Amino acid sequence: DRKVTVAKSAGFCFGVERAVDQVYEQIEALKSKKTSGPIYTYGPIIHNEEVVKDLSDKGVMVLETEDELRALPKNQGTVIIRSHGVSRHVYEILKERNVAVVDATCPFVKKIHRIVAEHSAAGEAVVIIGSPDHPEVEGIKGWGNEHTTVIKDGEGADYYRLPEGRKLCIVSQTTFNHNKFKELVEKILKKGYDSSVLNTICNATQERQVEAARIASQVDAMIVIGGRHSSNTQKLYEICLKECKDTFYIQTLGDLDPDSVSSVRSVGITAGASTPRKIIEEVHTRMAEQSFAELLKEEEESTKPI
Ligand code: F3S
Repeated sequence: DRKVTVAKSAGFCFGVERAVDQVYEQIEALKSKKTSGPIYTYGPIIHNEEVVKDLSDKGVMVLETEDELRALPKNQGTVIIRSHGVSRHVYEILKERNVAVVDATCPFVKKIHRIVAEHSAAGEAVVIIGSPDHPEVEGIKGWGNEHTTVIKDGEGADYYRLPEGRKLCIVSQTTFNHNKFKELVEKILKKGYDSSVLNTICNATQERQVEAARIASQVDAMIVIGGRHSSNTQKLYEICLKECKDTFYIQTLGDLDPDSVSSVRSVGITAGASTPRKIIEEVHTRMAEQSFAELLKEEEESTKPI
């Protein structure tokens, strides 16, 4: 019999899964008339076209800018904040519009908001190590003040000067690269500032990679599911390929050539961060069914009259 192993960390991380679930809960609440519409998400809930399309088919609208938030009709509808989180003043706009708010900010990101707010209130300067244009970083920055700075590279770290008479607090974007974070922190610490460093990198991505490598090293064939342009899926594919030469990169079940894995005894499955559970389950079911079909075929052959 074939053994099919699906990585526990395949697909959405905890924070994104929770946010997507919360949108579907709101759709249900609206259907059963527990709330009145419309439902909005502030920014797409996830970078997966299929999911966003499904939500839009079910009536969920995406608001892209703060101006769109400001233009919302008062006292109507629900705005869902996605896992990336938002700055403090976005909550103020929503309060002013008096709309219902479902806050799906990932708890790990929320924790960074708290750190930045508290250290800023205590008169410290805050450095966020991350990409300044990333919505998560924009949100985090919005919990600080004029002494909050985003540093993305070595040059930024070299140029950084702590405002006179202040202590420094350093945090990180959750998805920032670990080694790069360490490197930039070291550069800043060399300046001898009185600093506290809080490593707020989330290990969901790293856990997914470590588990994928472990499974790939134990199976005959490995399937990696994810968008063609998803960089975290490409990385997963490379990691798996190193461990298992029969590694297949697919976007959906349709991309899988059934013959390529028909005779293997063990299959592993993992998926990138924006791959919905449904697609992972489809591939899992097919792999298990295929094994069952093979088994039947073998049995039929062995019971054929000679
Ligand atoms: Fe995901 Fe939250 Fe980590 S959104 S990547 S679990 S910080």
